[in-house]
Amino acid sequence: MDFTTKTIFFITLSSLLFVGNAIPSSRDIHVVRHNLQSNLLEFCKKTTNPTLCQQTIQPSYTNNVFDPYKALGVEIEATLNQTKKIIGIISELREKQETSKSLKDSLDICKDQYNSILGSIKETKDAIANRDVRTIKFKFSAVLSYQASCKDAFEGMEKEFAFAKDSDVEYQLGGNCLDIIADLEKSEPKNEDPLPQSPPSASSNVIGTIS
Ligand SMILES: *[C@@H]1O[C@H](CO)[C@@H](O)[C@H](O)[C@H]1NC(C)=O
Repeated sequence: MDFTTKTIFFITLSSLLFVGNAIPSSRDIHVVRHNLQSNLLEFCKKTTNPTLCQQTIQPSYTNNVFDPYKALGVEIEATLNQTKKIIGIISELREKQETSKSLKDSLDICKDQYNSILGSIKETKDAIANRDVRTIKFKFSAVLSYQASCKDAFEGMEKEFAFAKDSDVEYQLGGNCLDIIADLEKSEPKNEDPLPQSPPSASSNVIGTIS
């Protein structure tokens, strides 16, 4: 590296660091919010239930830069919350005196399935922290099978399936997560290079900083 190259390299590095740490002015926040909105719309468009995707992810995005892994993390958290809600309903029904033997059997199957979902989600979260899309897919892909197994346990006794609507919400949220994962997988580089490509905007920042 000659002097000029070194200087440019240093400036690039420091401006990248600066961009990363800068506290945005109120105008910038406005711009970021606007982009966040359109990014989220674009992001959710590809999912099973775009409206649900936006409704669940939006509240967790106040003043942040859009990050698809973070958005996936929020949608998975929404799935986790729905899972916990259903486990609560199952426990309540299970404890009722008037619950029939056949209903208890179905509820026990569902309790196992939803506990398995909890396990899958826990493992998925670790993989999200590592931005490891292959492991994310591997760990999360069982969720809809567990959801379906619980639903199947109520075949022929649909009237007693008190949480059918919640089960459907679980399906929609889980489906959204899988769609997002599939999309992330598509944008993964084909080789095993763990380093992200620098965005082209980084070089325009350098020019701005020098002049
Ligand atoms: C999940 O539930 C927690 C606790 O009730 C709540 O703070 C959080 O916002 C919920 N997350 C989503 C994505 O709905």
